Amino acid sequence: MPPIIAAPAAAAASSDQAAIATFLDRHWARPLAAQGRVPDGFSAVEASLAPADCGSCHVEQYRDWQTALHARAMGPGLMGQLVEMDPAAREQHQECIRCHAPLAEQADALVAEIAAAKPASPGKTGLPSSLHAQGVVCAACHVRSQQRSGPPRRDRSAPDAMQQALLPHAGFVATTAFEDSRFCSACHQFQPDEYALNGKLLENTYEEWKSSRHAREGRSCQSCHMPERRHLWRGIHDPEMVRSGVDFAIENGDLRGAVVHAVLHVRNSGTGHYFPTYVTPRLIAEIEQLASDGLAVPGTRVEHVIQRQVPLDLGSEIADTRLPPDGELRLLYERPRHRAAVALVYRLRAEPDEFYARFYRALLADDSIAKGRRLLRTALEQAESSAFVVYEERRELPEP
Ligand code: HEC
Ligand code: HEC
Ligand code: HEC
Ligand code: HEC
Ligand code: HEC
Repeated sequence: MPPIIAAPAAAAASSDQAAIATFLDRHWARPLAAQGRVPDGFSAVEASLAPADCGSCHVEQYRDWQTALHARAMGPGLMGQLVEMDPAAREQHQECIRCHAPLAEQADALVAEIAAAKPASPGKTGLPSSLHAQGVVCAACHVRSQQRSGPPRRDRSAPDAMQQALLPHAGFVATTAFEDSRFCSACHQFQPDEYALNGKLLENTYEEWKSSRHAREGRSCQSCHMPERRHLWRGIHDPEMVRSGVDFAIENGDLRGAVVHAVLHVRNSGTGHYFPTYVTPRLIAEIEQLASDGLAVPGTRVEHVIQRQVPLDLGSEIADTRLPPDGELRLLYERPRHRAAVALVYRLRAEPDEFYARFYRALLADDSIAKGRRLLRTALEQAESSAFVVYEERRELPEP
């Protein structure tokens, strides 16, 4: 167990670093081992791995987690692909569920569902009730060999052996590994030997963060994604979160003449990694002229895509126009003023699931997909409806 109090001395700090690495290697050695025998004296609720049971005591964490994408990590897009697999192909399932539903107990439940070819039914909360269908559950991050672990208490203390014995689920192991950005790497960072394109790993969030100002200034993944330890994990699907990470500024241009001159700045001011970090979202910065009915005047749009663009087979990198931490896009507009135009609009749009929408469309066009078809149709609908406008500003064009 690593030291609990962050030690000021450099030597102690580096041994703390090493202890965290050792803890995390063991914690995330996949496939995760089954929890094993329930310790004597555990009540049914203490022994349970179901988030709702953890939530009977940890009310706030459960309430927040239910609203997070971690609770939806076994959505229709993933299940639609898994049900196409052989129920016995556990290693193939692991390639996906090691991140989406990593407990051994979840792997077993998944095999049963694929074999039965019947999707898990929703529980009281509207979320599915079986363990694998609940995605990145509490126990995926907090329970190994029936032992709970978590960060030190907020007052930096940890229960001693006497207190442990009196606590539910025999107390917990306190480790600063939970406060470290490396905790998230298990699922948000590929290893150096994993899939890369154009010399860059397909998932590289931790490394992007590590070389950013945010790491140097002590802002961990948790500080932005779990503020006050809340289990929220908002990201590209949440308009407010996205706004917290990017600035949108209009430069004084010249809107009076026959040619409209305008400039838009989009800056990655507060995203702790590339904006966006994955290949799956697309952002579009655009400027266009509006007619008096508020609609865009066709042919007047200038746009710039912010995305790591890849084809469906992930065979190449077409372009990488993401904004690195503190990186900025300057979109220049110089277009003749259309006679129907009365205003200019500046916009930043997000399509969080652009890649997935393309991908599901391709799967649905493939006749060999059978069992997963209904799920994939639902997934496509969800992926197409997640788009939103991050920022929009309008400037009137003065009378010519
Ligand atoms: C019967 C009530 C109960 C149930 C059920 C329960 N816990 Fe706990 N848990 C507690 C209590 C009480 C503590 C000790 C809090 C303290 O003393 O700081 C605790 C401590 C923890 C901690 C350590 C918190 C910290 O400060 O680091 C974690 C993590 C945790 N529980 C996770 C879970 C998970 C995951 C589940 C479900 C698999 C679960 N608990 C089920 C009551 C419960
Ligand atoms: C066991 C694997 C696992 C761990 C550990 C994990 N995540 Fe995730 N995370 C996922 C998966 C899988 C998704 C995608 C869920 C979905 O939409 O299907 C996700 C989604 C997210 C999202 C939402 C992304 C979006 O599209 O909006 C954020 C933010 C996030 N994780 C942050 C974190 C942070 C911060 C940590 C560390 C404290 C962490 N995650 C630890 C697996 C994990
Ligand atoms: C290294 C961890 C990891 C592995 C392995 C992984 N995923 Fe994911 N997956 C993520 C994360 C993180 C996200 C959320 C970020 C994003 O949207 O790209 C995600 C998102 C998704 C989504 C979109 C969100 C949703 O739930 O519908 C689908 C579909 C998906 N993954 C399918 C798969 C499939 C199929 C496999 C196995 C071939 C797989 N993933 C393997 C981490 C992983
Ligand atoms: C993706 C991993 C992940 C999942 C899933 C997860 N947690 Fe946590 N949990 C963490 C991390 C990381 C921290 C420490 C955050 C920090 O220190 O900033 C934490 C902290 C806690 C704490 C201590 C909170 C405090 O205020 O001191 C409790 C209790 C806890 N989690 C319970 C739960 C319960 C219950 C669930 C399910 C409803 C859950 N966790 C799901 C990663 C996770
Ligand atoms: C300084 C605050 C900050 C830090 C630190 C930070 N993030 Fe983010 N993160 C954001 C913001 C803002 C977004 C939304 C914009 C976006 O999607 O790029 C985001 C989005 C995400 C997403 C959504 C997917 C995507 O393509 O963008 C994931 C996953 C994620 N972060 C994981 C992490 C992990 C893992 C770490 C630590 C290695 C981390 N973040 C560190 C602010 C932060």
